[in-house]
Amino acid sequence: MTDQMLLLGQTLNFTGNPLEDRWENTVSIDSAGGVLIAGGHIQAVGNGAELRKAHPFAQVTDYGDALICPGFVDAHVHYPQTAIIASWGKRLIDWLNLYTFPEEMRLADPAYATDIAGRYLDLTLAHGTTTVCSYATITPQSVNAIFEAAALRGQRIVAGKTCMDRNAPDGLRDTAQTAYDDSKALIQRWQGKGRAGYAITPRFTPTSTPEQLAALGALWAEYPDCLMQTHLSEQLDEIAWVRDLVPTARDYLDTYEEHGLIGARAVYGHAIHLTPREIDRISETGAALVHCPTSNTFIGSGLFDMVSLAARHIPIGLATDTGGGSSFSMLRTMAAAYEIGQLRGTPLHAAQLMWLATAGSARSLHLQDKIGTLSAGFEADITILDLASTPAIAQRASNAQDIWDMVFATLMMGDDRAIKDVWVAGQKRG
Ligand code: GUN
Ligand code: ZN
Repeated sequence: MTDQMLLLGQTLNFTGNPLEDRWENTVSIDSAGGVLIAGGHIQAVGNGAELRKAHPFAQVTDYGDALICPGFVDAHVHYPQTAIIASWGKRLIDWLNLYTFPEEMRLADPAYATDIAGRYLDLTLAHGTTTVCSYATITPQSVNAIFEAAALRGQRIVAGKTCMDRNAPDGLRDTAQTAYDDSKALIQRWQGKGRAGYAITPRFTPTSTPEQLAALGALWAEYPDCLMQTHLSEQLDEIAWVRDLVPTARDYLDTYEEHGLIGARAVYGHAIHLTPREIDRISETGAALVHCPTSNTFIGSGLFDMVSLAARHIPIGLATDTGGGSSFSMLRTMAAAYEIGQLRGTPLHAAQLMWLATAGSARSLHLQDKIGTLSAGFEADITILDLASTPAIAQRASNAQDIWDMVFATLMMGDDRAIKDVWVAGQKRG
C-alpha cells in the first residue's frame, strides 16, 4: 500500500484514565515508538523498528526524540472572540457587554465571519489543536463559516449557533422560535456531515428566557445524538443574577434541568462554584464539565475543583475558552490547569495534563472512540511536540530526571514553537 505513512519518535500511549486510576497504570511513553497511518486513520501503533520492518513500503518521517501525541482537543471555545482575546480589566458580565457582544455583532457580516473562522482554525492548528468545540454567534452564517472552514482543513469539529433572546444588545438576539428553527436547520445541514457534529447552544440562563430554554430542550429531545453546550456557575455575580432571574430554581443547574437541558451529552463550561446537589446531578446523569483555566484566572472567576469532580467519575475536558481565556495554546492551558491545581493543593502530573488535553477532552465531547488517543482505528489527528523548542526549555530538558520531567518543562514553558508538525486525518498541515 503506497499511501501508508510511518511516523517514528517517542509515542504517548493511554490505556485508561489517569484522573481515576494511578497515572503510572494508564499512561506511558514509548521512547522508540511508531504510528502507522493510512486512509486518514491510524493503522497500528507500536515499536518503530518492528513497524518499519513489517511495512517496508511505508513512507517514513523520523521525528527522533520528539513526542508523537494525539492532536489537542479544545473542548470549549468561542471562535468569534478571536480578535478580542486578551481584553483588559473586566469581569464576566462587563467583559461580555464591553468587548464580546460588540465583536460578535461584527460577525453578522458573512465575509468577516468567514475570515475569523479561517483565522481561528489556522491559529489553533499552529498551536497543535486539531479539534475544537465552538460557540458561534446568533447568526446561522457564523455557524456555517466555522463548519465550512473546518471541512476545508479536513478537521473534526463540534459547533453550534449561540442562542440569546434577552439581556443582549439589539442585533444579537433571536427568539425562542427562531432559535429553535435556525438550530434545527443547522442540525439537519451539519450533524454527522463528514467530520462535523452539532451542539445545541443556549449561551447561558441570563441570556435565554425560560421559553427559549424550553424550545431548545424540546429540540435536543428530537435530536438526542447532538451535544448540548452551555455555561454553568462561572462567577459569583453571574450566579446571583441567575438566582434573581429564576427565583424558583433550586440552583443554577436547575434552570437548565427544568427544561430538559441535562443529560449524558450535556457539556457545561466552567462549573466552578457548584453546590453538592449540582455535583450529584451532574455525576448521576453523566454530563461533562469543561475546565477553562486561563479564562478562570483571566476573568477572575475562581478555582475549578478538578480532583474532587474527577473522583465522582464526571467526564472532564480541558479548554482555552477563547477569547475569555488568554491563549490559543493547549500547552499554556495545561500550565494554567497545573497552577490552579497548585493553588488548591492538588498538583496534576504531566500525564494527567496531557490526557485532559487529548483523550479527556475527546471523552467530554463523546468522541473518545474517534480522536484523542493513538490507537489502531482512530482518526489520524496527531501533534508532534519538540521537547527542546527554545533555549530556555532545552537547557531545562537537558537536566531532566526522566521523560516526564522533560515533557513537564514543555507543558509549563512551551508555546507554538514547540509544535513541530500537525497531522489532520493523516495529512500533514502547514
Ligand atoms: N458566559 C456566557 N457567555 C460567555 C462567554 O462568551 N465567555 C465566558 N467565559 N463566559 C460566558
Ligand atoms: Zn464560554
